[in-house]
Amino acid sequence: MAQPHIISNSAQIAAGLKHPELKQALYDEGAVIMADTLLTLHGERHRKRRILEFGVFRKDFFRWYEQTVFPATLKNSMAGDLSAGRTELVDLGYRVTMNLTADFAGIDRPDQSEAETADLLRLVEIFSQGATIIHSTRPKDELREEVRSAIAEFEPRFLAPSVARRRDLLARLEAGEIAESDLPRDVLTVILRKGDPGEFTPDVLTREIAFYLQAGAHSTANSTIHAFHDIHVWAEQDPVRWDRLRHDRLFFQRAVHESLRLHPASPVAWRQAMCPMHLDGAGAVEAGATVEFRLAEANRDPEIFGADADAFNPERAVALPNLPFGHTFGTGVHTCLGRDLDGGVVPRGDVDPETHQYGTITLFLRDLFARGARQDPVAPPQMATNTARPNWGHYPVIFDERLAWA
Ligand code: HEM
Repeated sequence: MAQPHIISNSAQIAAGLKHPELKQALYDEGAVIMADTLLTLHGERHRKRRILEFGVFRKDFFRWYEQTVFPATLKNSMAGDLSAGRTELVDLGYRVTMNLTADFAGIDRPDQSEAETADLLRLVEIFSQGATIIHSTRPKDELREEVRSAIAEFEPRFLAPSVARRRDLLARLEAGEIAESDLPRDVLTVILRKGDPGEFTPDVLTREIAFYLQAGAHSTANSTIHAFHDIHVWAEQDPVRWDRLRHDRLFFQRAVHESLRLHPASPVAWRQAMCPMHLDGAGAVEAGATVEFRLAEANRDPEIFGADADAFNPERAVALPNLPFGHTFGTGVHTCLGRDLDGGVVPRGDVDPETHQYGTITLFLRDLFARGARQDPVAPPQMATNTARPNWGHYPVIFDERLAWA
């Protein structure tokens, strides 16, 4: 493949990712799991699909999600860790975010057991490897075969029963036996209810839901662990900082956004030019050429974030039009659909902390710190060795009751 054109200036990324003749390019090789999913669609097909699936965010969705779904899922996922007085944050982070993402995608877990979550995680891990096959050092056909086997396990065990339960509820709604508010609020329900059956063949439906599972779980888990670490290290330098984090919820969210800026789950976005074009930052781009948008690099631009752009500093001011988390959630037509779910709303002007939408990462971390979560003093965290990404691989945490927020 010819070398891609590189764009790493923030404003040029924002403009470039809005170009209508640039199509998604990172997942072509991962078609076995990514073909015809929202992230890979282009133009009118993408627009229609995105509008359809955006329908999951119907009235009051976020309030309901943050106040009902999130606390219940967190409680179920964390019970064992709390009674043990300690946890391993990578494992816990993945368990919690896998369950939250499954709730959002519409995958039921009838057992509600750790073993069931672990099985789902194992399958989603294989899907993700398949999606990013382009970066894999493994033989590609072997990996594709593994993805096919994972799909063959996922479909009857997780997807089919979830589809059946929703079809039954939709039939009961049709018969006037239940109200619309009794339906699950998830992507699968939206697709079954309003999607075009010609578009959502069984294979496409499987890949679409599998895509949601991987889109939500890995990025949220890794971002949560990074934010735990950044906030912990920063606050340990001065007890006043712990106090501020505890009492100022908006500031806590600001700290999470600062960490999201430093550790974007997708460091780059790739697009392919559908016709010859000019792009600021790349110049003339020929049809078929690839453009690499360097999101992580732009997020550390000193001209925007200051001379200490590489440091975690939740007190830094970030001026509009830049977002406090930079390009971490992407921009343009493929902007992350889970952005507000995970990151919450960026506060502007006068905001009521009681009713503000904080996002699940902030809520999850506040819950951990409120229970006195701290790095295990005798077992320091370690980086992951099974990926080229700078993620945490092992992060032992203790719950110190003396530090709990009463
Ligand atoms: C910290 C967590 C997350 C990060 C950093 C993140 C990041 C991103 C980025 C950068 C993109 C755009 C990729 C591109 O332009 O090529 C994206 C797209 C997407 N994300 Fe996320 N994501 C996160 C969590 C989630 C969650 C929780 C969900 C849903 C449950 C989700 C669903 C999606 C979907 C559906 C798209 C595709 C949107 C489209 O193509 O129109 N993400 N995400």
